[in-house]
Amino acid sequence: MWKKLDGMRDAARTRSIAQLFEGDSGRAREFALNVDGLLFDYSKTSLDAEGRNALLELAGAADVCGRRAAMFGGVRINETEERAVLHTALRNLDGSAVELDGQDVMPGIRDTRTRMAALAQAVRDGSFPGDGGRIKDVVNIGIGGSDLGPVMAVKALAPYHDGPRCHFISNVDGADLTDTLAPLDPRTTLVLVASKTFTTQETMLNARSALNWAGGKDALGRFVAISSAVEKCAEFGIPQERVFGFGDWVGGRYSVWGPVGFSLMLAIGPAAFENFLAGGQAMDRHFRDAPLAANLPVMLALVGLWNQQVCGHGSRAVLPYEQRLERLPAYLQQLEMESNGKSVSLDGTPLDRVAGPVVWGEPGTNGQHAFYQLIHQGRQVVPCEFMIGVEGHEPELIEHHRALVANCLAQSEALLKGRSEAEARAQLEAQGIGGAKLTQLSRHRVFPGNRPSTTLVYPRLTPYVLGQIIALYEHRVFVEGVIYGINSFDQWGVELGKELANGLVPAMTGGPVPKDASGSTKALLAHVLGQTG
Ligand code: F6P
Repeated sequence: MWKKLDGMRDAARTRSIAQLFEGDSGRAREFALNVDGLLFDYSKTSLDAEGRNALLELAGAADVCGRRAAMFGGVRINETEERAVLHTALRNLDGSAVELDGQDVMPGIRDTRTRMAALAQAVRDGSFPGDGGRIKDVVNIGIGGSDLGPVMAVKALAPYHDGPRCHFISNVDGADLTDTLAPLDPRTTLVLVASKTFTTQETMLNARSALNWAGGKDALGRFVAISSAVEKCAEFGIPQERVFGFGDWVGGRYSVWGPVGFSLMLAIGPAAFENFLAGGQAMDRHFRDAPLAANLPVMLALVGLWNQQVCGHGSRAVLPYEQRLERLPAYLQQLEMESNGKSVSLDGTPLDRVAGPVVWGEPGTNGQHAFYQLIHQGRQVVPCEFMIGVEGHEPELIEHHRALVANCLAQSEALLKGRSEAEARAQLEAQGIGGAKLTQLSRHRVFPGNRPSTTLVYPRLTPYVLGQIIALYEHRVFVEGVIYGINSFDQWGVELGKELANGLVPAMTGGPVPKDASGSTKALLAHVLGQTG
């Protein structure tokens, strides 16, 4: 399947991106897609028409279309957990049926969303809880997919906030709970306990401590539960009318579209939340209907595969030039690395290549003053995914937005063009520097250039656009996973650490240290417990 692409490796690694532009005046247009207001420019990569064709053949051979139909059709493609993958149903707003085992899941989804909207409305207009303590603050307690999606989206859509203030507690570190709750009044705070399983150690411990802070069992009236395990919510003491459930066919990292996104609904209101869903649904329709070559998630995936598998770059930086997308890199780390950081294919055979790059990033321009040094001059090439809005939300600060755009475009240009030693020398000579100093300094000012980047341009970060972007990345991860032949919807790699932590917790209070613990772990534990001589 990969043979053709593997054969392109040497040419791709030595190819000049600048020369690709010189040889094709239409490259910027031909190596870009414009879909429903989103412009995806992948022309600043070493991908040529032949490479693109080979990638598209690869997608065809991996049966991306068939697997896509299976996902939307409710087939249990998450084979190791025997689950369907239907998070897309959460944003299916058009009333069409989505069948799982012959049953339409949509009535249940709509019913839950209606109940969420009613409670959100009551919180927002002050009629809940009805005892005079109007809710001013909302605290979402959750971790992983029960935190990263909502926290990312709530921050992203700050200009649309007209509801209570939202806060997030995720880390089991008591500092997170303490610092978040310190400024809040429990009488005017609504606590959302979000956990698909309702067993996650960090979340349940934080939920119990938050209940103590709020005043114990009497405060349960200001607690909401969000989970697939609704019976466990009742055990915690949260009554059914404030439990919002969802099917096990919604993976944690794909769950922001449903009850897990309740904090977002509270912050921006049910109507704006629906716009967020509408953006996601529009991307679903595009992903289902567009031919592969014109398909945004498919091309985003294929460009990523080109950079990693053909050009050999094992890491990928996500660089939103949008401060409000501050948590997007963290969100994408879970989405991409928990989904595709795997070593075996669906049937358990070892993969013959490394799947899934290391994903990281920071908003521009802050990243420029931190790690861009390595991106420009380090030996390791890091493909960069830039993102920028045509407009910001601060027309009165238009100067800031102009500077932001200029910086974003300048960075991808610098990565592409670089600066030769001759150019560096000429600059220094113009400053009057000569002799040995000139040679020494000019070498420090060389930029190799020819470094790949893509740029995603969106009109403005509205709820609809955020929905488009998140669904775009979800489907990109899916396409990559299909091509690698892996299950992008399980996460067995997080289990071992959890098991060992459960074994070590008793040792923290004098219980037995697991016999098979390594010498290092035993010594560290003894040090923490003050048991060293
Ligand atoms: O880290 C593993 C994981 O299972 C994630 O996949 C999930 O998003 C997170 O833990 C939280 O799980 P839960 O929502 O069940 O508390």
